[in-house]
Amino acid sequence: MDNRPIGVFDSGLGGLTSVPYLIERLPQERLIYFGDTARTPYGSKAVKTVMNFSDQIADFLVESGVKMIVIACNTVSSTCAAHLAERYPDIPIVGIIQPAADKVVSSCSSLNRVGIIGTKVTIQSGIYAEMIRSKRSDIDVFEMACPAFVPLIEEGFRDSDIMELTIRYYLDDFILENRIDTMVLACTHYPLIGSMIRRMYPDIRIINPSEEIVTSVESILKEKDMFADSHTGDNVFYASDLSENFVAMIDEISRNTTAKIEFKNLEIDKK
Ligand code: DGL
Repeated sequence: MDNRPIGVFDSGLGGLTSVPYLIERLPQERLIYFGDTARTPYGSKAVKTVMNFSDQIADFLVESGVKMIVIACNTVSSTCAAHLAERYPDIPIVGIIQPAADKVVSSCSSLNRVGIIGTKVTIQSGIYAEMIRSKRSDIDVFEMACPAFVPLIEEGFRDSDIMELTIRYYLDDFILENRIDTMVLACTHYPLIGSMIRRMYPDIRIINPSEEIVTSVESILKEKDMFADSHTGDNVFYASDLSENFVAMIDEISRNTTAKIEFKNLEIDKK
């Protein structure tokens, strides 16, 4: 039993898409979330920069007394998970790629044609294709970086004509030419445009890593006997810049749950 909070982080508000699943499945766990809204997007930055930012956030979460760090960000998970695990050998570090790749492996057949869409950093890492192929070389995997999605989502253009055009720009040919029938939203921001993608491509099955990561969190808590036995204190959501959209999204989350939410701004020096 361990009543310390779980730390969750992302480059911005994308990681919030995993929070309702965490709250629903693990209601007794207290969450400390950090969204680096002042420095988002990470997905088009150098890996070294992403690593520096991730170190700062992980240090902050550890100083805040978390028992586990959940990287609710594909960009960070694809490049920094092993490094963070080395930096904090005593704290379980849960990345988002493995549970999502496992879902593909367990739910797809050799007939499926799987599209992975994510940030430049995630796609350039090639980690999804590698993890899927290491277990199932018979599944066809295609990858596509969609770098304009995150800035548009952070700016609040979720349900707009400009978003629809951008989705078409990236996905129309990608889906058609590769005959994609299953698509992994390999950036935690993308579930925020998931309903639009579903509407535009109704025949495609969507896999949402923000949902899958909860399975890993739960099994590690179980394995290490670290479940909290009661929800002690409020969930806290930090952002390096309290953008309107970040605040609005916390409101959305808190309307759908009984969790108490507190806003706090955290300034992190740029390095
Ligand atoms: N939400 C993040 C991800 O899952 C990062 C997006 C970004 O900052 O570019 O990849």
